[in-house]
Amino acid sequence: MILIDGKKIADDIKAELKATVEAHKTKTGKAPGLTVIIVGDNPASQVYVRNKAKSCVEIGMNSDVIELPNTISQTELLDKIHVLNRDTSVHGILVQQPLPKHIDDFAVTLAIAPEKDVDGFHPENVGRLMIGRLDECFISCTPFGVVELFKRYKISTSGKHCVVVGRSNIVGKPMANLMVQKLDFMNSTVTICHSSTPDISVFTRQADILIAAIGKANFITAEMVKAGAVVMDVGINRVEDKTAKSGARLVGDVHFESVSKIASAITPVPGGVGPMTIAMLLSNTLKSFERTLN
Ligand SMILES: NC(=O)c1ccc[n+]([C@@H]2O[C@H](COP(=O)([O-])OP(=O)(O)OC[C@H]3O[C@@H](n4cnc5c(N)ncnc54)[C@H](OP(=O)(O)O)[C@@H]3O)[C@@H](O)[C@H]2O)c1
Repeated sequence: MILIDGKKIADDIKAELKATVEAHKTKTGKAPGLTVIIVGDNPASQVYVRNKAKSCVEIGMNSDVIELPNTISQTELLDKIHVLNRDTSVHGILVQQPLPKHIDDFAVTLAIAPEKDVDGFHPENVGRLMIGRLDECFISCTPFGVVELFKRYKISTSGKHCVVVGRSNIVGKPMANLMVQKLDFMNSTVTICHSSTPDISVFTRQADILIAAIGKANFITAEMVKAGAVVMDVGINRVEDKTAKSGARLVGDVHFESVSKIASAITPVPGGVGPMTIAMLLSNTLKSFERTLN
């Protein structure tokens, strides 16, 4: 069984990006810049934003965090985004979710210039992904990270049956869209399951590649998995653990203990897909910067 070490791969990618950023700085005197907007004081969002900013700095990119109050109006937020769209020192713009209820998420997604949408959420990027123009779009970071793990571990996916559980716009749908592309480390036959699929185990048991993006702790158990399957666990769920200092620990959507006994390869949680998301965000930001040089 191969334990897929997303932390190590993410560190490798960051080291490669750092070398490229340094080379660009030497040659052009310029560095890629990522601006993250955070609205309100959601503690989890603050941790995510801090981690993104820290990772940028580690690899020599410029990072800016704009903190806005919960009371900001949608118009004011969109105005801030429009200013960043015009700022040539900003190559990536990200608005941390969730947003307060009075702000329309989709209006925010549409406001970000597609060429700075390093999250890959703008319909222009989603559309280009769907039609296979992967070099001309930004791919949603978590699914992009999963494909990068297939590449780096040389896991063959071509012609295999890939079952994606979950159909969110940020993970499940772009994941399935990637896996169906006629490209190396994709090119699978794809099935998507969701909460209205009557018996998902009928499908998951047929999966050569099983990708879980559900948001339910330990949901995929060994009985639902074919022996020898490759299992990618996107889920991040906090569960009570009295033995942990904080009283809680993180687990995936896959019951790791049982599934790891029958899978041929599996990602742990934490340390699997999670670290790849930030690595791919940095990669997208560098790509955006490099486009401005050409
Ligand atoms: N590793 C990372 O960096 C990263 C990034 C993003 C998200 N995540 C984690 O990944 C998980 C999924 O995130 P998300 O944003 O995609 O969540 P989401 O928007 O809540 O979507 C969950 C999906 O799972 C489906 N689902 C829920 N219960 C189900 C069931 N009983 N059987 C089959 N399908 C079911 C839902 O179906 P319906 O559409 O029918 O409701 C939905 O499509 C979460 O744990 C999240 O924290 C991790």
